Amino acid sequence: MISRKTLVCLVVLLLPGMAAAIPAGEDAYGTRSYADYEKPGVCASCHDNIYQQWTQSMMSRAYTHHWDEIEYFKLAVPHAEKDAKVAGVKAGCNGCHAPTAFLAGDTPPPLPEEGSRANESVHCDHCHTITGFAGDVPHNFNGISEPGRLKQGPKPGVASPHHDTVENDFLKTGDFCGICHNEMSPYGVWVKSTHLEWKEGPYFAQGVQCQDCHMPKAKGTSAKMGAEGKIAQHLFHGAHDPGKVNGAIELRMNPLEREVEYDGTAVVNVQLFNGKCGHKVPTGSVEDRIVWLHVTATDSEGKTWDLPVDKKGFDGEEYTIAADVLAYHDMGIPLDRPGFAGVQRDGVPVGDRIFRMPYFDSQGRMTIQQWNTASQGVDYRIGPRETKVETYTWNLPDDLAPGRVSFRAALYYSKLVGPVAEFLQVPAEEAAPQLVNEAVTWVEVYD
Ligand code: HEC
Ligand code: HEC
Ligand code: HEC
Ligand code: HEC
Ligand code: HEC
Repeated sequence: MISRKTLVCLVVLLLPGMAAAIPAGEDAYGTRSYADYEKPGVCASCHDNIYQQWTQSMMSRAYTHHWDEIEYFKLAVPHAEKDAKVAGVKAGCNGCHAPTAFLAGDTPPPLPEEGSRANESVHCDHCHTITGFAGDVPHNFNGISEPGRLKQGPKPGVASPHHDTVENDFLKTGDFCGICHNEMSPYGVWVKSTHLEWKEGPYFAQGVQCQDCHMPKAKGTSAKMGAEGKIAQHLFHGAHDPGKVNGAIELRMNPLEREVEYDGTAVVNVQLFNGKCGHKVPTGSVEDRIVWLHVTATDSEGKTWDLPVDKKGFDGEEYTIAADVLAYHDMGIPLDRPGFAGVQRDGVPVGDRIFRMPYFDSQGRMTIQQWNTASQGVDYRIGPRETKVETYTWNLPDDLAPGRVSFRAALYYSKLVGPVAEFLQVPAEEAAPQLVNEAVTWVEVYD
């Protein structure tokens, strides 16, 4: 008889050799079945708290969430059927959003309303049977999936009546998250690079992992009959948690001179400091997200003006200042609307600074279809611990009342460009502007 301990040792010793033989990424398509993976409901019977946390996170809804359903079925699937270059995304979207459907070769999976197992989205038994990743850089679902009785976990020597566990340091690293949080388009462009941004930033250098901010540890037990310890909370809170987005960027503002003559010019600087995120802001679905700074001035009689940001003069700056222009013409391809005129590019007040990186299709048109991205424009996002300064030079208008003029800067975030949400009938909550932070300052205007 081989003892259990020897068996575990054997498995650990054999794993690196065996891993090479297990297909990952696109090669893993159709190599598994749904039955290879346990349902989240099974884990819930013992891991009650973690289960409920997970059900409130977006990863438990990565396949069923309305906007994901709309983008996959209305845009990606029809596009994949028309254009050989992007044909792979019909199955590939699910590599990250419904990984078991992908591994089971179920393409396209049934609609969410049909209640199939694709709805489990990014579930417990998927993450806890990933043993590593193939290649040098985690991306495009290149995790190695080895479903079975053995669950990968963060701790050594853990005993469970339902399964075996093995300590796997990989689960404690940002590389684990990178499997799905880096995405390369069929054109070879990094259209999602949260993990890469983190890796080249200050947090990775200091040993801070994604888990430290998105799965913080707290005292408790991880299962009903589990041992007390510091437990990784399965919060995965991000763009859909207002509390996570609030204050992600700190804002301050000051005038260059406190006293300005009535026919003079007021100059104010706004500092934007990313003190809270391990990656750029915005990150992830950068093609959809829009972050913008709105600055107003109000005179002593309550009259208010919107101030346009000063231009800095860098290449591609036009994409970072809100304008009245149309974009996203390539939605016409999947929607079967040749000559589609596009929709408003920004949907925010003209002249506001936008923190973004534009994505372009093969014809150089701005796109929200990240799979159809052939190139990218200027990266004007706010990096981890980076501070950007925006300047507003304002020639005081003739009808300004003398006395105190107050300025307000407000930074807003929206998960999806408003006009796109409206056009595709994505529920309004997805495009609702959220206040990230604000700052005020003043000048005295004298006669
Ligand atoms: C019958 C109860 C039961 C069920 C069902 C169950 N587990 Fe567990 N599991 C436990 C217990 C008990 C522990 C040990 C907790 C402790 O003492 O820290 C545990 C520990 C774990 C660990 C942690 C290992 C570590 O390193 O800390 C993981 C991961 C895990 N389970 C995953 C799962 C998954 C995934 C499922 C569903 C497919 C599942 N469990 C179903 C009881 C269960
Ligand atoms: C997106 C991947 C992912 C999903 C989905 C996920 N987990 Fe985890 N889980 C992790 C990672 C990563 C850790 C280790 C975090 C760390 O220690 O830094 C972990 C830790 C755990 C632990 C050990 C906690 C501890 O600190 O001792 C248990 C138990 C567990 N998960 C169970 C579950 C169950 C049950 C579900 C589903 C309800 C689930 N997990 C869903 C990635 C995931
Ligand atoms: C198997 C693929 C996969 C893995 C592994 C994975 N994620 Fe995700 N994650 C996703 C998908 C898909 C979404 C998008 C969900 C949606 O449709 O809104 C997502 C969304 C998120 C969000 C955004 C939530 C929000 O509020 O919008 C956070 C935060 C997140 N993941 C953190 C993590 C962390 C931290 C890890 C590693 C411990 C991780 N993920 C590992 C696939 C994955
Ligand atoms: C120092 C803390 C910190 C670290 C480290 C960190 N994050 Fe975040 N993350 C945040 C905060 C705060 C937000 C909310 C602001 C935002 O949405 O940009 C966020 C947002 C996100 C979002 C949603 C972004 C969006 O706008 O849609 C995802 C996805 C995400 N993080 C994944 C990750 C992954 C994956 C890693 C590791 C590679 C990671 N995070 C590391 C703090 C952190
Ligand atoms: C490499 C993994 C990966 C692939 C492949 C992938 N996604 Fe995602 N997707 C993610 C992650 C991770 C997020 C969350 C990013 C964030 O929070 O900013 C996301 C976010 C989204 C969102 C925004 C969700 C929200 O709630 O705001 C939509 C819609 C979406 N994906 C659709 C698709 C479609 C359609 C495809 C195929 C063309 C696809 N994805 C391919 C990983 C992937």
